[in-house]
Amino acid sequence: MMEVLSEKKVAIVTGAARGIGAEIARTLALKGYHIALVDLRLSEELESVKKECVAIQKDCRVILLAADISLEEDCKHAVEATKETFGRVDVLVNNAGRTKDGLAMRMDRDSFSAVIDTNLTGAFMLSSLCLPMMVRQKSGRIINMSSVSGIYGNAGQANYSASKAGLIGLTKSLAKEMGGRGITVNAVAPGFIETQMTDSLPDKVKEAAIERIPLKRFGKPSDVAELVVFLASDEASYITGQVVEVSGGLVL
Ligand SMILES: NC(=O)c1ccc[n+]([C@@H]2O[C@H](COP(=O)([O-])OP(=O)(O)OC[C@H]3O[C@@H](n4cnc5c(N)ncnc54)[C@H](O)[C@@H]3O)[C@@H](O)[C@H]2O)c1
Repeated sequence: MMEVLSEKKVAIVTGAARGIGAEIARTLALKGYHIALVDLRLSEELESVKKECVAIQKDCRVILLAADISLEEDCKHAVEATKETFGRVDVLVNNAGRTKDGLAMRMDRDSFSAVIDTNLTGAFMLSSLCLPMMVRQKSGRIINMSSVSGIYGNAGQANYSASKAGLIGLTKSLAKEMGGRGITVNAVAPGFIETQMTDSLPDKVKEAAIERIPLKRFGKPSDVAELVVFLASDEASYITGQVVEVSGGLVL
């Protein structure tokens, strides 16, 4: 039976088990959203993000959904389960992402496609599944997690950069399609943020990066999460089709 909890807004966050996605979930909880946390599996990490959200906001309802967003069936299941539980979807944060780095001349097609399928096609599938509900509600927010690599390119990341550039095209096209329906679509492009994704970088690469960043540090997941939650808010209702960098001024 469908339960309607219309007084609170409902957000879906993908890649919510750790890093930027987990911080987005905690920040949305603080702002009073109900949340569907999506990640590859129902891990202890994902369970603890749920506990943290509920500790932050006692009446925050959180559901955990195991879904590989590169698979259409999993995307359908995640959106259906959210609608079944909450009766609405107000915000979709397409945050889940992966890398499979290597020089293009040695990169096989599978390595290219695997990254595109998660980072770009997954975001497309989830967006198209959420949009009919948002159209009915006459409001909605989609926020896509791009990257500075998608704007400027990055050696060794042809697949990742192409997926993140693709997300920018997706963002602008959806913004044009959906503007008349009260739905905004924006992209966030982080630079170097302290998460497991950047932990594995060699110290030399980290030091060289910090040298190039005017603010002289890597960002924190909260630096990105605060922007995402703003873009999701009513206060951001006149912002659509934009790509906002959160990079400490990495490229100026
Ligand atoms: N950390 C950075 O410096 C940085 C910079 C630019 C962009 N980004 C982007 O921000 C987003 C979050 O990055 P992060 O640093 O928190 O990464 P992370 O690797 O710490 O977390 C990514 C999460 O996505 C999940 N995920 C991966 N593939 C998935 C799939 N197919 N289906 C469902 N979930 C999946 C992982 O299980 C993980 O929990 C990513 O899209 C990433 O590309 C990160």
